[in-house]
Amino acid sequence: MRLYHRPNAARWLLIFAINIPALTLAEPFIPIPSWTIASSAIISKNAAHLSRPGVDTSSWYTLNATKSTLMATLIANGIYTEDDLFFSTNLLKVDSNQFRVPWYYRSEIGLQLSCDATAFYTLRTNGISSCADIYLNGHRVADKDTQAGAYVGREYDVTDHLRANGSNVLLVKVYPTDYNRDFALGFVDWNPYPPDNGTGIWRDVEVKRSGQVSLSAPRVKTGLSGEVTVFVNARNLAKNATASGALRCVVHDPQGEKVETMKSGLELTAGGYKKLKVQGKIENPQIWWPRQWGEQPLYSVQCNATVKGTSGPSDSTPAMNFGIRTVTSTLNTAYNDTTFYVNGKRFQVLGAGYTSDMFLRFDEPKLRVQFQLVLDMGLNTIRLEGKQEHPRLYELADELGIMLLAGWECCDKWEGWAFNDEGSGEKWADADYPIANLSMRHEAEMMQPHPSILGFLIGSDFWPDDRATQIYVDALKALDWPAPILSSASQRGAPALIGNGGMKMAGPYDWVPPNYWFDDQQRLGAAGGFGSELGAGVGTPQLSSLSRFLSSSDSDDLWMNPNKSLFHMSTNISSFYTREIYNTALFARYGAPNSLEDYITKAHISDYEATKSQFEAYLSRWNHERPATGLVYWMLNNAWPSLHWNLFDYYNVPGGSFYGAKAAIHKLQHIVLDMRDYSVYLVDRRVEPSAPEDGDRRIDIEVIETQGRLVVERSVDTRTEINSARKITDVPALANLMGIGFLRLRLSDANTVLSRNTYHISPAADVLDWENSTWYHTPVTSYADFRALANLTRADVEVSVEGKSVGLKNKSKVPAVFVTLSLVDEKGGDVRGAVWSENYVTLWPGEQMHVELQYTGPVEGLKIKVGGWNVDENLVRVGGGI
Ligand SMILES: *[C@@H]1O[C@H](CO)[C@@H](O)[C@H](O)[C@H]1NC(C)=O
Ligand SMILES: *[C@@H]1O[C@H](CO)[C@@H](O)[C@H](O)[C@H]1NC(C)=O
Ligand SMILES: *[C@@H]1O[C@H](CO)[C@@H](O)[C@H](O)[C@H]1NC(C)=O
Ligand SMILES: *[C@@H]1O[C@H](CO)[C@@H](O)[C@H](O)[C@H]1NC(C)=O
Ligand SMILES: *[C@@H]1O[C@H](CO)[C@@H](O)[C@H](O)[C@H]1NC(C)=O
Ligand SMILES: *[C@@H]1O[C@H](CO)[C@@H](O)[C@H](O)[C@H]1NC(C)=O
Ligand SMILES: *[C@@H]1O[C@H](CO)[C@@H](O)[C@H](O)[C@H]1NC(C)=O
Ligand SMILES: *[C@@H]1O[C@H](CO)[C@@H](O)[C@H](O)[C@H]1NC(C)=O
Ligand SMILES: *[C@@H]1O[C@H](CO)[C@@H](O)[C@H](O)[C@H]1NC(C)=O
Ligand SMILES: *[C@@H]1O[C@H](CO)[C@@H](O)[C@H](O)[C@H]1NC(C)=O
Repeated sequence: MRLYHRPNAARWLLIFAINIPALTLAEPFIPIPSWTIASSAIISKNAAHLSRPGVDTSSWYTLNATKSTLMATLIANGIYTEDDLFFSTNLLKVDSNQFRVPWYYRSEIGLQLSCDATAFYTLRTNGISSCADIYLNGHRVADKDTQAGAYVGREYDVTDHLRANGSNVLLVKVYPTDYNRDFALGFVDWNPYPPDNGTGIWRDVEVKRSGQVSLSAPRVKTGLSGEVTVFVNARNLAKNATASGALRCVVHDPQGEKVETMKSGLELTAGGYKKLKVQGKIENPQIWWPRQWGEQPLYSVQCNATVKGTSGPSDSTPAMNFGIRTVTSTLNTAYNDTTFYVNGKRFQVLGAGYTSDMFLRFDEPKLRVQFQLVLDMGLNTIRLEGKQEHPRLYELADELGIMLLAGWECCDKWEGWAFNDEGSGEKWADADYPIANLSMRHEAEMMQPHPSILGFLIGSDFWPDDRATQIYVDALKALDWPAPILSSASQRGAPALIGNGGMKMAGPYDWVPPNYWFDDQQRLGAAGGFGSELGAGVGTPQLSSLSRFLSSSDSDDLWMNPNKSLFHMSTNISSFYTREIYNTALFARYGAPNSLEDYITKAHISDYEATKSQFEAYLSRWNHERPATGLVYWMLNNAWPSLHWNLFDYYNVPGGSFYGAKAAIHKLQHIVLDMRDYSVYLVDRRVEPSAPEDGDRRIDIEVIETQGRLVVERSVDTRTEINSARKITDVPALANLMGIGFLRLRLSDANTVLSRNTYHISPAADVLDWENSTWYHTPVTSYADFRALANLTRADVEVSVEGKSVGLKNKSKVPAVFVTLSLVDEKGGDVRGAVWSENYVTLWPGEQMHVELQYTGPVEGLKIKVGGWNVDENLVRVGGGI
């Protein structure tokens, strides 16, 4: 029914299950705040009936949240608990047949209408996995062919179907998701699939009240001289009346001052839709930078539409933050490598691949911790492969200065191309292209104003076919996409319309030795070009995390059955179901472990060298003939407690992979050993010198043997160059080592040590069998030998704690190797949220250093544990002073 009210006294009140503020005329979208949920298997009434008031839902599950998949709902209702589901193989016990039937999400909206203005109501979806019928008050608003695709957001004019006074009922009937048939959020070979395949309302369903003209959120393009262009889509919701009026947009600067007002006229035919554009200029613009290069000033823009003959705005957009910055890319056609530029500066991408939670739960505090870990390591980019999450992720990235490389996921339905002979996804039919179109438009609109956006990958392992490419590109352009559009993350092929994506996806995904990355095998993963997903397959959780999700026999398997299939590795259909490649190398290089603790110690050392060498190799090749333009470590995090493919574990606890990456990239000025030919590179990733005369540098190189005897000592004076990496010298003596050696590089300017970096070197290098490389690794025919580390003389390390600073002093004549710090509770368990400025450090005989603890929680009863490869464990109580 149509709602007409008395003019000029408009006050609508939408009362959901919980109170929300009264709506004024032009309101932002407000999410449906809560739901009741039930399976169609136990409800006999049909959807139309269920979407009328008066249905007894007391036996339904409840959800006091705006969104949640079915599994997440069952967890919230106590049917399952996360700790139990994730323990050992318990996930296999969940009956997935319960998710092979439709489920209902129902919300009863109390709506009180006291009076008038011609108001219009819009219902918006942002993502329901993966298709649904939507009913309002017995009327079907959309069927499952219309609301289809987990990324499809649609707006439905529901003005005619709302009841003026009393209850309104919204019912969403969600259908089972199959990753190969539907456009959903799959996990490929990353982890076992959730039993419900992510089915449900995973993003907010929202309602908005507006006048006759309704506006989209504003989109913004900026220039570095302060040019601002704002785009807003306007729709005339009246089907029988034209609209004439104005659009007004106001820009506020980061300090909250109004700095620009822009206006345009507005003429819309009945039911018409138009893109409006206004332009302005901001004086003395404050430029937004990635965190490593500067500040993140955020401007905001807000627009209103007014319609002649009515008072007040017909619609008001939300205030959207934006940054003044540019992102561009070039393709080096000699190699088909993409190079990114931020604000015109050549930008080497140091990234990692992000995943959502297995049940698509969005936990903002957890994400914030993850983003802080990202910055703490020194990563500048995150790749979102088909896990585009929610608007808050983009806002957080904007605030923190983390670049985002968004895109569609590989393999399943998303890459069901006729020419894809690898994927499992069903081939696309005509009905699939409109879903692609709307998915792309929705995501582009959500992401557009965010300065953190580095680009969108419309394909991953495969490039889209020509029809889909055209649709994706048109959609991005229609939404004023301000960043690069890349056809895929691999070199399998490219669509004619936008050409090669300029990224390689040639592995590895499983263990390779440190010297792999420095080789000239750049057609594989070795440093050169842009590696879109690659790593040595590491990311072993700490013992305290393992005990949360592995039984003791599962833990024993790690070191007693090193080739066994493991449920907490990748899926059983993947090449990564065992730790055989990893364990074979670990056992050969460091010696067979004699306990779980010994295994974990060796794993963290191995993980540390793996990530450090990978990042350092890419850093060092930034100015090579074939520059290493970027890498995305595979992966950043895991969707559930996994044994590999992360830089911190599911509980956000960092280990060897984290501190190895951090050692490589935390400092903008760094010194790197080429693990293949023992040359030394000076890396300077700054875009501005700290002073005009800044540039003189000194490099100190020392090599010692296990007994501490100094065998190489050299210093080199050089100059640094901004945003470059250069080979400075060699350490040829390393090739002549008789036993294990330790090498220390130090980079200093006139006053300070800027970077300190140590390596353990085996006289026998790892030998790679390049010709037998597969898509996931390169075998090793002969391993480096660090087994003699077992016989290192014990080192005596003095520990002193002052505040959050831990002093370490090696009082011995031998090196103190892999000195490891942890913050532990009374039971000896790792305290979550504790991060160290560095970890797994090696101290020279007599050397002193300070390591800082970053931890904001209460310290009562906590201790700092210091141990190491050849260092006895030392527990120091954290004083009240910390
Ligand atoms: C939602 O809130 C209601 C009312 O406070 C409560 O009875 C119910 O247990 C809550 N449901 C969940 C899943 O937290
Ligand atoms: C809605 O209900 C309120 C209070 O019960 C009443 O004042 C108002 O007139 C009603 N409006 C309509 C359109 O029925
Ligand atoms: C989940 O998707 C997979 C295909 O990826 C399919 O085999 C399976 O049957 C689906 N599960 C459910 C419960 O629908
Ligand atoms: C528009 O249509 C409604 C009914 O659908 C009618 O009451 C109204 O008078 C019409 N307005 C115009 C301007 O024609
Ligand atoms: C839009 O209208 C609101 C409410 O009247 C007002 O607070 C806001 O400043 C207006 N914005 C613009 C851009 O005119
Ligand atoms: C670059 O990519 C294009 C299109 O995919 C291809 O035709 C060309 O041969 C490639 N060039 C190199 C050097 O690989
Ligand atoms: C994509 O969607 C837009 C907006 O709905 C529409 O205008 C356009 O025609 C669609 N493109 C194709 C190829 O269907
Ligand atoms: C595990 O596999 C490797 C080869 O990949 C083999 O050398 C080793 O003996 C196996 N270990 C066990 C315990 O079977
Ligand atoms: C590849 O591996 C096979 C055995 O698996 C071996 O016979 C062959 O020599 C290897 N190729 C090279 C080039 O080493
Ligand atoms: C360690 O020393 C012992 C005793 O000297 C010796 O038997 C063993 O072979 C050594 N181990 C390694 C790995 O060098």
